[in-house]
Amino acid sequence: MQHIVLLTGAGISADSGLKTFRDAGGLWEGHRIDEVASIDGWNQDKQKVLNFYNRRREQASKAKPNEAHHSITKLEKKYRVSVITQNVDDLHERAGNSTVLHLHGLLREARSEVDETLITDIGANAINIGDFSEDGSQLRPNIVWFGEPVPNIEKASYIVAEADILMVVGTSLAVYPAASLIHYTKKSIPKYIVDPKLPEISLSDEWTHIQNKAKAGLPELVNQLIK
Ligand code: APR
Repeated sequence: MQHIVLLTGAGISADSGLKTFRDAGGLWEGHRIDEVASIDGWNQDKQKVLNFYNRRREQASKAKPNEAHHSITKLEKKYRVSVITQNVDDLHERAGNSTVLHLHGLLREARSEVDETLITDIGANAINIGDFSEDGSQLRPNIVWFGEPVPNIEKASYIVAEADILMVVGTSLAVYPAASLIHYTKKSIPKYIVDPKLPEISLSDEWTHIQNKAKAGLPELVNQLIK
């Protein structure tokens, strides 16, 4: 069975109504990224960071997977499929995509601010100041913030290295190390990018650009591949 690897980003969830970061003019709900998505921001104002993620968690829990997420489930009937996502929502899982690796964490998880291995599923619930992990420290979102290591990146690079087809959907490829994953493929495999815009980095001739929204472009590509 051929192995299809998808690297997804905010654009695939945009079609479910969740805002991308870079399309919103570099501001997330009116915040600079370092205020709400860095360890310095957390140390400066935990309440602000919790409010921000509590709002994002609520939005994500109300959003529904779209045609793009569902088309990946369809692809699994004919191919081995691995999804590597930079998204922190769980729309891939809720669409039934069976193999999903999150590079930047998950909104529905909280963790100890001291021990990154102490993770709890909190569903759509808020995290408040004074909510403690089992080690007695404050709970924080289980999100990989800017400046923090990406624990799943090595695992992701091995998955990409096994791909027979690579699909990149709805990511600006502007954030590293996630963006570097596209360089780990075997030589000369088919590569597709589904995005209304081309990324700013230059892509070789092996790439096919499907200049469309994820909810239209991905199902069309999937239909071609499962024919
Ligand atoms: N369908 C497909 N692509 C879309 C759509 C859509 N409907 N709408 C927007 N896009 C594309 C944009 O053209 C852009 O290329 O999605 C991409 C979104 O880019 P970013 O906002 O930079 O999101 P992403 O690449 O996932 O960001 C990476 O940066 O914001 C941090 O940690 C966060 O995981 C995130 C990382």
